[in-house]
Amino acid sequence: MDNEFQMIGRCESGWPTVASVSHWWKNAVVYQIYPRSFADSDGDGLGDIEGIISKLDYLADLGVDVLWLSPIYKSPQDDNGYDISDYQSIDPMFGSLEQLDRLIAEVHHRGMKLIMDLVVNHTSDEHPWFQESRDPDSAKRDWYWWRTSDDGPPNNWGSIFSGSAWQFDEQSQAYYLHLFTRKQPDLNWENPEVRGAVYAMMNWWLDRGVDGFRMDVINLISKAPGLPDGEVAPGELHADGSPYYANGPRLHEYLQEMNREVFAHRDADMLTVGETPGVSVEQAKLITDLDRLELDMVFQFEHMELDHGTTKWDHRRLELPELKQNLAKWQDGLAQAGWNSLYWNNHDQPRVVSRFGDTAYWYESATLLAAVLHLHKGTPYIYQGEELGMTNYAFAGIDQYRDVEAINYFREAVEGKGEDPATVLAAMQEVARDNARTPMQWTDGPQAGFTTGEPWLPVNPNHTRINAAAQVGDPHSVFSFYRRLIELRHKDPVVQHGSFELLLADDPVLWVFTRTLGSEQLLVVANLGNEVVDLPVDAHGETVIANYDEPVGDRLRAWEVRVVRRSVNGD
Ligand code: GLC
Repeated sequence: MDNEFQMIGRCESGWPTVASVSHWWKNAVVYQIYPRSFADSDGDGLGDIEGIISKLDYLADLGVDVLWLSPIYKSPQDDNGYDISDYQSIDPMFGSLEQLDRLIAEVHHRGMKLIMDLVVNHTSDEHPWFQESRDPDSAKRDWYWWRTSDDGPPNNWGSIFSGSAWQFDEQSQAYYLHLFTRKQPDLNWENPEVRGAVYAMMNWWLDRGVDGFRMDVINLISKAPGLPDGEVAPGELHADGSPYYANGPRLHEYLQEMNREVFAHRDADMLTVGETPGVSVEQAKLITDLDRLELDMVFQFEHMELDHGTTKWDHRRLELPELKQNLAKWQDGLAQAGWNSLYWNNHDQPRVVSRFGDTAYWYESATLLAAVLHLHKGTPYIYQGEELGMTNYAFAGIDQYRDVEAINYFREAVEGKGEDPATVLAAMQEVARDNARTPMQWTDGPQAGFTTGEPWLPVNPNHTRINAAAQVGDPHSVFSFYRRLIELRHKDPVVQHGSFELLLADDPVLWVFTRTLGSEQLLVVANLGNEVVDLPVDAHGETVIANYDEPVGDRLRAWEVRVVRRSVNGD
């Protein structure tokens, strides 16, 4: 239950004081690093651990509490490290275990924490466990989903990355299940030895000093018995099997077991966040209700799918009321039990300024979107470059994409279904994951200061304008705005714990809501349009943060956001 704090009065500064906050991550902000695109120390065009270490002061200056590293384990890199061939070693492209130990120490030295990506729905097909399991007589045969079938794949599920979810293996004379690429075979969590091996590996990392995990597609680990066929949507080549593999029957049992085996006996403050595509509010509440001892929070996807049609490639315009009502639904749904994570961006999503903002009002829309998100209740996540307002990249053609998801999709759409390549590329431009993965923009110099070599993915030419060097220290920058939002979350109990209420839910351009704790209220008013609009509510009060210098009477300018503090009758 979310009642572990008590207001006991006011300190001299006027902030309500809080007796105890037992879950530190409720006041924290997490920063995601995508290591291959963050900072390259050795000129090979790929980011690495030394590069991350060299930027820790920048992150400490931003004020974030936790760093989440996308996978740096040994991997053939079919899906940029989300295909792991050895969970307990570092891929040489990123560095070594010794360097990681130093990174952990340096992060802790600056008062931050480090969480690792945990990818255990699947391994790489090059993992020794999978290699061994290819022998039908091996003790590891049951660690993966092997099935024989005389007439094609054992069921009709499509892979999330195009094609069938089954791959025939000549050596085995059998098919194996892979929800992602054929180089990412799914582990069989039904087998207790698999679960034991995963927990042992997690304990090994925690013993090494990491502070928790972001758990990749963790709600896909329990599959429905019998792996039944799914429905094939019109125009599709394969079925959507997700009703049979997402949030499956044993998910909560596995998460509770993991909690007992890995986290329960530790005193240290950990953070666990599950990536859970397709999760409903009710399911998320079960996973994150602290009394149930599963996970601290999840990433839900509903707000990321509001501009999707039948698939993510079928892109449509976002309707603002749907977005704000959706976030409000999650605020309400997890108000009594459970906890939200708040995000616009990660390594799988296009850049938010290009997606929900307006690059013609670049500073205003980047800061507005930041303020609106960070003023919701939950733990905010910042994806590298978001704090600089980085934007999508204009890909010149299929040859510039590196992501296996995009390349597979293009092939299936153009060669498999005969779609027009220009139309397919136009959709990819909006939604492709590589938009998020172009190198971090440190300076206006060559390759944005990311590498002295040839970057693995092109640098956005707008780095001459959008870069860290230009923004750090400038009080009017997107970076400084994020810094102030983080500071606000750290010190303001209303931001941390205040109840949430959405106002003007159907307004097509205004996003207005309140957060209330006792007699203290924050009112957030934001204009997500280019026209000046009249303020629809009384917004008098002390300005807490705003993206225009001086408020103009009772009007909001293009992409203006204002947060004011005021007193209300206590509840
Ligand atoms: C998650 C990751 C994504 C990866 C997929 C398969 O969605 O965020 O990058 O491709 O899982 O591991």
